[in-house]
Amino acid sequence: MEKYIIGGGKRLYGSVDVASAKNAVLPLFAASVLTEKRVTIRGVPAISDALCMAQILRELGADVRFRGEDVIVDSANAHSHEIPPSLTRELRSSVFMLGSLLTRFGCARIAYPGGCDIGLRPIDLHLNALKQLGVSISEQGGYIFCRCGRIRGAEILLDFPSVGATENILLAAVKAEGTTVLQGAAKEPEIVDLQNFLNAMGARVSGAGGDVIRIEGVKQLGGVNYRPIKDRIEAGTYLMACAICGGETEVRGVSAENIGLLLHKLRENGCKIHTKNDKIRIESDGRLVCNRRIETMPFPGFPTDLQAQATALNCGAHGSALIVENLFETRYKYVPELQKMGADIEVKGRSALVRGAGRLHGASLVAGDLRGGAALVLAALGAEGVSEVLDLSYIDRGYADMQGKLRKLGAEIKRVRV
Ligand code: UD1
Repeated sequence: MEKYIIGGGKRLYGSVDVASAKNAVLPLFAASVLTEKRVTIRGVPAISDALCMAQILRELGADVRFRGEDVIVDSANAHSHEIPPSLTRELRSSVFMLGSLLTRFGCARIAYPGGCDIGLRPIDLHLNALKQLGVSISEQGGYIFCRCGRIRGAEILLDFPSVGATENILLAAVKAEGTTVLQGAAKEPEIVDLQNFLNAMGARVSGAGGDVIRIEGVKQLGGVNYRPIKDRIEAGTYLMACAICGGETEVRGVSAENIGLLLHKLRENGCKIHTKNDKIRIESDGRLVCNRRIETMPFPGFPTDLQAQATALNCGAHGSALIVENLFETRYKYVPELQKMGADIEVKGRSALVRGAGRLHGASLVAGDLRGGAALVLAALGAEGVSEVLDLSYIDRGYADMQGKLRKLGAEIKRVRV
């Protein structure tokens, strides 16, 4: 096991180049088996979730190579429609493989997906939508077995704009007979990116980024060479690091409109924000005022993947903040760790009342999930004294070289083996 040792209280100056978005890259891996032609995904971040998706494709019989930061997938020899439980349990995104495998082979067998333990995370919306596309589904002994002839286009209405279900429907319907109209779609920028990737392969998808997505089934999909969008969650995490520590930092690669609400909240905290094209510069004196209320919502609302980091920020600010988590039921598991640092947080169901302590103190902390882990790192960077953050396996799922990027900004952070 590895851990971070973090000396708090250093101001952060300089620039960060944001990596490609984890949540854009993972569905592209799944989409790459829709064709027998070669697919190149450029600028894939060195995160363990990407390695896990690569391993899933290899289990299907695809050839997956990492060349520098690019990943080349050749699935001409893919033959298996089954993903072993050891891989699906490690990564929730493995659920996208249902749509891709159905399109490619007409059947799919996968164990129930896993991922960070942040709530119930059912997949009923995925399965109901697939049924409407003519897929028959049986569940047995922890496995989902799906079978179809040719998928038939359909009108689908999602009860809730689930990101994963929207992506799965795109992957299942892209070569369907006829047209699929999806109402109530998720509008995240990563959905638009998947649409662009599929269209670059020869698909006919339109409307992503809005409520209604139209997918006209095509007969063939070709190869593609594609660079995914950058990670708005990683960008937000480093902007908040600078807000907490004080300093002046430029985050490059993400346009302001993709994290508009976060920028608004940071201004409320007392930070100065300047934006130009895909560059966001933040200035902070480190003496922050709490946000009155932060409530997570599907895009363009405040992202649930930045909720933990925002809570950490408010713990070290002045005043009080109400945080409301609307997406996942148990996304406050990091709270007892922040309390070890002197944070005053009262959790009741989906709400957390934070009374800002002005400044936290260093402690020994354990990261229990990806974004909660990032929140602990941020809190430690702003705290007085030394902290350690144990078990980096979750943070490694979504942040490439976090310590390198923070050190470049002047943070005191070391990665060591325990
Ligand atoms: C994706 C992101 C994740 C982010 C989340 C919400 C990826 C790889 N992961 O996860 O980082 O936190 O969007 O922005 O892109 N739900 C159901 N039934 C379903 C599907 C979802 O009830 O069939 C519920 C979930 O339990 C959750 C909510 O809908 O409460 C949102 O889930 P969803 O949008 O599907 O998130 P993911 O795709 O899992």
